[in-house]
Amino acid sequence: MTLTRRQALILGGAGVVGAGIVTVPISGVSAKSASKLSDRDMPRPYGTPLTIPPPLAYQTTVDADGVTTRHYTMTQRLGSAKILSRLSTPILGYNGIFPGPTIRIDRGTRAIVRVRNQLPAKHPTLGHALPTSTHLHGSASLPQYDGYANDLTLPGFYKEYHYPNFQPARSLWYHDHAVHFTAQNVYSGLAGQYLISDPVEKGLLPQGQFDVPLTISDAMFAANGALGFDDREHSGLWGDVILVNGKPWPVMKVQKRVYRFRILNASVSRSYNFRLSTGDPVTVVATDAGLMPVAQTVGSWRHGGAERYEVLIDFRKYAVGTRIELRNTSNENNRDFDHTGKIMRFDVVGDTVNTADPTWNSIPTTLATSHPMDLKATDAVKTRRFRIKHDDDTNIWTIDDLTWEEVIASGFKRVMANPALDAVEIWEMENSSGGWFHPMHMHLVDFQVLSRNGKPPFAYEKGPKDVVYIGEDETVRLLVHFGPHRGRYMVHCHNLTHEDHSMMLQFRVGLGADEEDPNDPITAAPAVWDPVQG
Ligand code: C2O
Ligand code: CU
Repeated sequence: MTLTRRQALILGGAGVVGAGIVTVPISGVSAKSASKLSDRDMPRPYGTPLTIPPPLAYQTTVDADGVTTRHYTMTQRLGSAKILSRLSTPILGYNGIFPGPTIRIDRGTRAIVRVRNQLPAKHPTLGHALPTSTHLHGSASLPQYDGYANDLTLPGFYKEYHYPNFQPARSLWYHDHAVHFTAQNVYSGLAGQYLISDPVEKGLLPQGQFDVPLTISDAMFAANGALGFDDREHSGLWGDVILVNGKPWPVMKVQKRVYRFRILNASVSRSYNFRLSTGDPVTVVATDAGLMPVAQTVGSWRHGGAERYEVLIDFRKYAVGTRIELRNTSNENNRDFDHTGKIMRFDVVGDTVNTADPTWNSIPTTLATSHPMDLKATDAVKTRRFRIKHDDDTNIWTIDDLTWEEVIASGFKRVMANPALDAVEIWEMENSSGGWFHPMHMHLVDFQVLSRNGKPPFAYEKGPKDVVYIGEDETVRLLVHFGPHRGRYMVHCHNLTHEDHSMMLQFRVGLGADEEDPNDPITAAPAVWDPVQG
């Protein structure tokens, strides 16, 4: 009998698949631990305070037309993170920290972010070369500023990324997108939040210290405190330590009022099913690409890699001293460990609440109907279907039988689709790769989830999105408006180890196959040698 690769993976036959990594089944798996830390060094839930990444400083210029631009610089460098109490953890970080600094900017103010690559030639523990490409996830950037996987900035070089920020308020994030090593680089620390504000959002939702970015990831540690990396033959990385803003299962003190949390799943592979330990619901007010038309009150939500959900939690009714946990009941096809069901804890404190702030007790219901939530399925001029598969013999994930390798081989010309500029289309994606879920992400566009398995999407998905969770045997239909830029943009699975091997394709908007592309993602704005080193 010959086993297919997947059967071999399921049987966990060491050596069957070459690298000798023992791999066990995929569904609802629970295991003891992934970290090699001693008992003494293994962090315990709720032993450390939540920290908030610092803001990033900038300079402002105003041009002759009155356009305001902020100029930021971030340096990718080695850093040392304090995650474990007795050991330090080497990381790669924007400005040497994980998560990277938070950028908060108003809609209508442009930004130019100089990203300096001051990383060593090779990753200190994993050994791969360290050219980088920075993607601002959720921004309609021109192709040459979009972090195209092969638009690489070598160590010693920098690249200036131009961000338009004309889109409605939303929670974006920047992260590395280097071809074949995105998983390793993001996991090592190259990720941060970038938040666009506007008057609509400011009028409705908590601001300042009550508007809290939460970047959630999972990690495994070597005995010396370094990050371990095991992607189980490119199927997924499953850490046993949950980090929120880079701290293990932290605790946040909260006042008796309404808080807004911008929850980003920055894990390489893991998805979550979040809920409160009290059983009380939360109110989802924004999805990946901004405010929902109508707030949705839900008891739990499934949250895949790169998705952003903004939720309001109302702490008014809890007595001072109450401890409320954010928990994770997980989903099919994750690997869970003893404490991956816990995320963080909120401790209610008796500080005086500023009731002059109108958001302190407000849970709005009607929010904002922005594009593309105002579109209807009948606006679509075309329906395209894509099938996601896994080849059990080669262990390759494909989208319509193609991978990024074919895109590379074509000189970056090959596309999965060529919509006209401003075309509205329905994209149907079917996951026929049994045993895995895939958070699929389209660059450039925001989309509306029309249906999931022929039924309406989940309540919390009824907002503008740029990533959609496609579980085992699920089919989603997306309503997409292609624009406002012409050019080539990537589509990929945001399980980063899938993306790297090589579950990624591209579409081309508003350009013929042989038409000259003024916004060529690789050549239009190349990185330059940095006159300042260090
Ligand atoms: Cu968040 Cu193409 O990625
Ligand atoms: Cu995937």
